[in-house]
Amino acid sequence: MRETWATSAGLDLHLDAVEGSRPRAALESALREAVRAGRLAVGTALPPSRALALDLGVARNTVVDAYGQLVAEGWLAARHGSGTWVAERASSWPAAERPAAPPAAQPARYDLRPGSPDLSAFPRAAWLAAARRALAAAPARSLGYGDPRGMQVLRMALAEYLARARGVLATPDRIVVCAGFSQGLEVLCEVLAASGAGELAVEAYGHVAHRQVAVARGLRLATLPVDADGAMVSDGVLDAVRAVLLTPAHQFPLGMALAPARRRHVADWAARVGGLVIEDDYDGEFRYDRQAVGALQALAPEHVVYAGTASKSLAPGLRLGWLVLPDKLTDEVTERKRATLRLSGSIDQLALAEFISSGGYDRQVRRVRLAYRQRRDRMVSALASEVPRVRVTGLAAGLHVVAALPSGVQEQDVIALAAARGLALQGLADSRAGKQDLGPALVLGYATPPAHAFSTAVARLCAVLRAVC
Ligand SMILES: Cc1ncc(COP(=O)(O)O)c(C=O)c1O
Repeated sequence: MRETWATSAGLDLHLDAVEGSRPRAALESALREAVRAGRLAVGTALPPSRALALDLGVARNTVVDAYGQLVAEGWLAARHGSGTWVAERASSWPAAERPAAPPAAQPARYDLRPGSPDLSAFPRAAWLAAARRALAAAPARSLGYGDPRGMQVLRMALAEYLARARGVLATPDRIVVCAGFSQGLEVLCEVLAASGAGELAVEAYGHVAHRQVAVARGLRLATLPVDADGAMVSDGVLDAVRAVLLTPAHQFPLGMALAPARRRHVADWAARVGGLVIEDDYDGEFRYDRQAVGALQALAPEHVVYAGTASKSLAPGLRLGWLVLPDKLTDEVTERKRATLRLSGSIDQLALAEFISSGGYDRQVRRVRLAYRQRRDRMVSALASEVPRVRVTGLAAGLHVVAALPSGVQEQDVIALAAARGLALQGLADSRAGKQDLGPALVLGYATPPAHAFSTAVARLCAVLRAVC
């Protein structure tokens, strides 16, 4: 069936087959069908008859008559001087035929799971101003498909920022912008699998989605146990692999930094065996004690891929992350990134470049770092005074802490009780990758709720824990 698009008065109308020897009947049935199928919602204003007639190439009277007929049938309503619109009674389906609405998933009212910054703290005004400035100055070619490594202007801004703020040895030509760390990891795992690496060492506790990415790309996993000094990189596991994924600045989810001797050990290992370290620096901007933890990458830039993301510092919905690559991997990663056909949007890249270069990114990080630190302190002191049997660790950095549950208390029981009270929680067991078992605990994301919901979320958490501990 032929289809017609009418664009009268700025309204795109998708009508089926308004043609043939009986245009009025065809228009009537096309409009009837559009209302019945719900494509034209109740209250939608229809284009003026003159405009629609011009769009469709039919006489104006044809449209006037068709509208009149549908008004008479109750599909449309019209008032002189106010135009014609889809009538209230013209429900798209007879009630009996209407598909039942799927039961709405009930999102928890309060959320203390890790993984998200406070989305309501996104710097909308500053971001819009940066986007406006960047777009006004950008040449037309910047809106084309572009370089699979990402836009030059963003890679330049990132190189300067990462060197200054994270101690990364970065040049724009070694940076590849990706759709969050996850896409960077996908591409790196493909490169590893293609090189015959076969196996990737991961921390015994880590992000489950990242392990899935590696397995889906054909890599087997070996697990490195974790202690108070971070991943145990001299454990012997690395003897059998050529690649390791680490969170050195802030172990996810346990929260410690990789000890200096272990950083040197893993950098030496990589240089000695020609191995690769993937350094996931997902929340490196958020450190609350005085001891700065810079990037491991600077110890062995030819063997470490530094990976960063805007998902914690700004918002995961931006889907912007970046890899700083060893020289020898840059071309291959770029080619594989090109092959994914998933490049990051150039307007967001331009905006981020301008946001960083104009100092907006630093200001935002400083602002939210202060707010998160206050939240952390409030959560930790509430837990200490209300449920002293719960031991809280991983305080020095990031957007979450780990609350160890007293023995005998099951994670799942606490999570279920909290869910019944409208609070979403996550257990430590979700992150567990291997044999090492650190016992029941909660990973509490104190950045997740918007500011107005934080106190209630913490109060509910304490009430739930008081009930079980
Ligand atoms: C350990 C870890 N790494 C990286 C990320 C960021 O991933 P992405 O940049 O794909 O949003 C997260 C997000 O939750 C994370 O928990």
